[in-house]
Amino acid sequence: MLDSKEKILIIDDDLAPRESIRMVLKDRYAVSTAAGALEGLDMIADCPVDLVVMDIKMPRMDGITALQEIKKRHPDTEVVLLTAYASLETARDAIRFGAFDYLLKPFDKDDIMTVIEKGLARRRSSAGLKIEREILRDRTSFLEKQINEARTNVMMCYEGTVQALILTIDAKDHYTYNHSNRVAQLSSSLAMAVGVPKEAIKEIEHAASIHDIGKIGIDENILKKNGRLTPAEYTEIKKHPAIGIRIVQSVPFLEDAMPVILYHHERFDGTGYPEGIRGEKIPLFARIVIIADAVDAMMSARPYRGALSIDKVMNELRENAGTQFDPDITEIILKGKVPLV
Ligand SMILES: [Fe+2]
Repeated sequence: MLDSKEKILIIDDDLAPRESIRMVLKDRYAVSTAAGALEGLDMIADCPVDLVVMDIKMPRMDGITALQEIKKRHPDTEVVLLTAYASLETARDAIRFGAFDYLLKPFDKDDIMTVIEKGLARRRSSAGLKIEREILRDRTSFLEKQINEARTNVMMCYEGTVQALILTIDAKDHYTYNHSNRVAQLSSSLAMAVGVPKEAIKEIEHAASIHDIGKIGIDENILKKNGRLTPAEYTEIKKHPAIGIRIVQSVPFLEDAMPVILYHHERFDGTGYPEGIRGEKIPLFARIVIIADAVDAMMSARPYRGALSIDKVMNELRENAGTQFDPDITEIILKGKVPLV
């Protein structure tokens, strides 16, 4: 079948070499001929070929110019140049323009077959590589799609779990629920101002919204007590970071929230709880949430006291920067970079 044969175009303004090469190749390949480069280029544009055999010296457009045109328009098409001894150097130079090889006139039938067959073999292998590359690209995009779907599912699962935990806090203590939402908002603004990468902002927001999850395990009478806590009650309250860790540690994707849950009552000077770690030993997200937590607590009205004014909150922050709070993060609020209202 003619169609299944590889296609070769012979371009030569001289009829004799054009025909003699055609005779050598015609039984094995689908051979067409052109008497000039421009005609040949038109033919390739209409019907791409696997390989072009082309003379170098031709009127109107020479073989070297035509070679560059072919390589520009059909980079996978192999080109074998025909040359007389006089233009042998030009033919050798043409390899750098992408010619596969050259045939020196007068032609030997076996040489023609050998060079053409090698040229077609290179064409086949580059076509094969192209197909493999396409298959690989298809597989990669399929896998990327699957990974994205899986990531979306995990994120939905994550969001669902965080929401469930937040609602659990709400059921137990409505103040803590509202407070946690506001702490999440302020933490997110502070994290952005500190330069936390965009993709990690959700992480701190989630961690902040469940930072007090451990309060689920604290006696309601202590949690909602109107008035000062006794030392024993305070000891009880101080257990909530550890209880929080126990709640979330069985949920692998909440692992990132653990430093915030555990360390949001540490103080910058090391006098906080539960571990008394200090300074930058306290994870950054926890240092942010500590400030957001305190700010919101001060700005909220409680049964035993009213809400503090912005000025008073600012004063508290100024006075406690470096002791209770990370001074650099506190500075962000004091300089008004993250407004409190
Ligand atoms: Fe807390």
